[in-house]
Amino acid sequence: MQLSQRITQITGGGSDGWDVFYKARRMIAEGIDVTELTIGEHDIRTDPTILTAMDASARGGHTGYAMVPGTQEMRKAVATRIQERTGVPTTYENILITPGGQSALFAAHVAACSPGDTALYIDPYYATYPGTIRGVGAVPVAIQTEASNAFQPRAKDIAAAAVNGAASLLVNSPNNPTGTVYNAETMDGIASVCRENDLWLISDEVYDTQVWDGSHITPRALPDMAERTLVVGSMSKSHAMTGSRIGWIAGPAEAINHLINLATHTTYGVPGYIQDAAVHAFAQGTDLEDEISAPFRRRRTIARDILAKQNTVGLIPAQGAMYLMLDIRATGLSGEEFANSLLDTHHIATMPGESFGTSAAGHIRVAMTVDDKRFSDALQTLVDHAITLSVQ
Ligand SMILES: Cc1ncc(COP(=O)(O)O)c(C=O)c1O
Repeated sequence: MQLSQRITQITGGGSDGWDVFYKARRMIAEGIDVTELTIGEHDIRTDPTILTAMDASARGGHTGYAMVPGTQEMRKAVATRIQERTGVPTTYENILITPGGQSALFAAHVAACSPGDTALYIDPYYATYPGTIRGVGAVPVAIQTEASNAFQPRAKDIAAAAVNGAASLLVNSPNNPTGTVYNAETMDGIASVCRENDLWLISDEVYDTQVWDGSHITPRALPDMAERTLVVGSMSKSHAMTGSRIGWIAGPAEAINHLINLATHTTYGVPGYIQDAAVHAFAQGTDLEDEISAPFRRRRTIARDILAKQNTVGLIPAQGAMYLMLDIRATGLSGEEFANSLLDTHHIATMPGESFGTSAAGHIRVAMTVDDKRFSDALQTLVDHAITLSVQ
């Protein structure tokens, strides 16, 4: 039976650049001790106090259908958090609770794009972006960035891509995969291109609690942007709740009303006991968030100390998120060749920059998601391997 074009073309066909990742998983299945510095998942689990709140809620009976837009408590908790952090007036009417940031990304594009519309995004990008856009029937168009500019997008490049008509622009700061935090100039440029070209801005801020250098700017707070910005948030990274699948969209009340209709016809909401646990997690304030992000902050310092002692492997500033983007062009290898060679020789798995588009070719992404000692040893081995290759 023929399946729809929309579903069969989500991945776009061809290699998705994740071969090294799958090879590492096969090696692990064969019993090989691989150090996995690949995906964005904490090496700690969800905090026991959050699990206790989840258990109490479920046993208290909150296991039936929850309100589709989210419980009133959770919508209010997210609105308060956003208003306190950004100063943008936000009420529960600006919030839809979603099963994770990924479904929020999909829903936001449904809201912003009609079938056939162009949807812009920045390269290098989080792996699901182009597929999410194809999944809603829009056409993904990537905007290149440069390592020499720490992968900060330039307004003129976005404007050039928007010139033929586009419905939306998707940005992500703090950024996965580059670890870059967009500065004020970048965000102002993004906002003016959106205003001038009448674009929806979809701002993926799932790493907003992981900022090591500078500060997180939400474009929703910039002049006249609240009316055209859909912010995607999540508790996956901030509270190590990846498996709980809870996130949100913050945006204009009218857009949220339509998005509630979409949720009614797709997800039908998020389990009430997960939302109650999330409200409990927010009530712990920033102390818990800081505790959860502390290992990444520490490992970034470990990495910077190791990398400072040599000049074969370059570090993109690593201002935020749980990743390091390393420039390995001095080895003469592509990111994919280097990642394969590191995996084969030393059983250390990283992601080739080529897995995230074309702008980060010749780089690898290292997730800081193993314990400090193992991370430090792996990074030193990686550097030594690059130095060996570069002198051959
Ligand atoms: C940039 C970015 N956005 C969104 C997500 C989706 O996160 P979740 O669906 O777990 O909230 C991820 C997950 O890795 C991510 O890295």
